[in-house]
Amino acid sequence: MLRLRHATAPGWLDAVRHDFTAFLQDHAHNERKVSQSALVLATHYPNRAELVDAAIEIAEEELAHFKTLWAVLKERGAGLGYDTPDPYMKAMFAPMRKKHADDYLLDRLVIYAAVEARGCERFGLIAEALGPDDPFGRLYRDLERSEARHHGHYLRLARLYFAPDVVAARLDAILDHEAETVARLPLRAALH
Ligand SMILES: [Fe+2]
Ligand SMILES: [Fe+2]
Repeated sequence: MLRLRHATAPGWLDAVRHDFTAFLQDHAHNERKVSQSALVLATHYPNRAELVDAAIEIAEEELAHFKTLWAVLKERGAGLGYDTPDPYMKAMFAPMRKKHADDYLLDRLVIYAAVEARGCERFGLIAEALGPDDPFGRLYRDLERSEARHHGHYLRLARLYFAPDVVAARLDAILDHEAETVARLPLRAALH
């Protein structure tokens, strides 16, 4: 598991609990977006079989998560809600290098790995706070495991296509950037 360099502040859980429906709506859209991103990745690298395999698996699982969240929202009598801008994702994509194809692929894989790792950390916090007797506690424990797998896929692909020192150096920079981003953004009833 990637070691994130800034632990989520306890106030985040308070914000989530304060408006759990808003959190669920934001979470649902996050699942939808990561499913789409995985498919776009497969579209851009059709000749990298391992990447296409992993992308299909991830897209399918994220879509299943989206479906689960949608079912939960309907049960609560809530709508899906409109997708709103995610300042964390905007910041995470900012250092992406697009000029050279190799840099672009490496950055996408490393950034997606870091984002999945953060999702994993935060779902774990919810699972821990609610406990195994709460249906949401159990749901978020399952989601935590799933995001851990996804982060592993992206890291594995990065290490498959790039030299270990190249991956390590980029990962180091992106994890620093991720920590700074999380530390500076306000806490809200949203995944990020
Ligand atoms: Fe997911
Ligand atoms: Fe994921």
